[in-house]
Amino acid sequence: MRVISVVGARPQFIKAAAVCRALREKHDEILVHSGQHYDYAMSDVFFEQLSIPKPDFNLAVGSGAHGKQTGEMMGLLEELFLEQRPDVVLVYGDTNTTLAAGLAAAKAGIPVAHVEAGLRSFNRAMPEEINRVLVDHVSDLLLCPTRAAVANLEAEGITEGVRLVGDVMLDTARFFAERNDSTAVLDQFEVESGEYFLATVHRAGTSDSPTRLADVISAFGRLDRPVLWAVHPRTRKNIDEFGLGDALNAASNVRPVPPVSYLETVGLLRNARALLTDSGGMQKEAYFFGVPCVTLREETEWVETVELGWNRLAGTDADGIVAAASDVTVPMTRPEVYGDGHAAEAIVEALEKRYSA
Ligand code: UD1
Repeated sequence: MRVISVVGARPQFIKAAAVCRALREKHDEILVHSGQHYDYAMSDVFFEQLSIPKPDFNLAVGSGAHGKQTGEMMGLLEELFLEQRPDVVLVYGDTNTTLAAGLAAAKAGIPVAHVEAGLRSFNRAMPEEINRVLVDHVSDLLLCPTRAAVANLEAEGITEGVRLVGDVMLDTARFFAERNDSTAVLDQFEVESGEYFLATVHRAGTSDSPTRLADVISAFGRLDRPVLWAVHPRTRKNIDEFGLGDALNAASNVRPVPPVSYLETVGLLRNARALLTDSGGMQKEAYFFGVPCVTLREETEWVETVELGWNRLAGTDADGIVAAASDVTVPMTRPEVYGDGHAAEAIVEALEKRYSA
């Protein structure tokens, strides 16, 4: 098979790491980076640490308003797809890169295979929800991480080409957790195992609202333990623009640090008392490592983590966050609802069945 894989943002690098490894054993892969994330800490470091092959093409599209960013990517991807004529275009998750690649391929008459198909927050105010719904509806092969995802697709009338393959982020988490000492980061970040919260905030819904961001900072400042906060560049910019720098400095237990690499994240997460996040992927990574999570959103696509008691939806209300983080519990069981850590092989097998000549 000749496969074009398109990535562009942090979570896609983590997922592609596992799939590239499995795919390249037998097939030709052309890896395209849209350039949606471009800083060293947001992109290159993931390629280095996760041994992802160097992209064959980098479109260097950079940041911008959603329509402009997506449109620019589409134009460039369309040219590339028509020139390269792959058997299938593989897209990941729910970012603008996913949407651009999915639409460009579908319109060029090339089948789209979507890794992480079927997830829904049922909140159309999230740009990611629009991206994932649209991509699922132009996909030919829908590679679902969970049973809930399969059911969501069925509810939208999509049953053809749907495969339950498990969650590919688990493959990457297991592969690297086995090969890395997760305690080295504790000295590096001067934190004690089990005695700090790890925090990340980057969603538009949280970080683009001055009141919500102020509430989150205030909640972090009221917690009874250090909060190590890996601050996304978008959130950093907004903290400055909204004049929230003083509030952050006043929260003496809160330690803002620049974005951290994958291996640092895994090390910090595994040793944290709990994770405070609005990220989708990290809610799941917390579950993989048996770390309780407090989600700074009203809803989640990863409903299993909530149903099984590992994740609490606290929203962005300061009191709600403080209450949830002050009372984290560790449930007795953690079933394999995200598969067995071999999703990448299942994905390659599903691609072979559908596209191998
Ligand atoms: C994007 C995805 C989101 C995903 C997240 C992972 C969309 C709509 N959102 O959000 O689903 O969870 O990636 O991190 O696709 N910036 C930099 N350097 C970079 C990249 C971004 O400084 O390397 C800054 C820019 O100011 C940019 C802002 O961050 O405008 C937002 O970047 P963007 O890629 O649009 O969205 P994310 O918030 O990263």
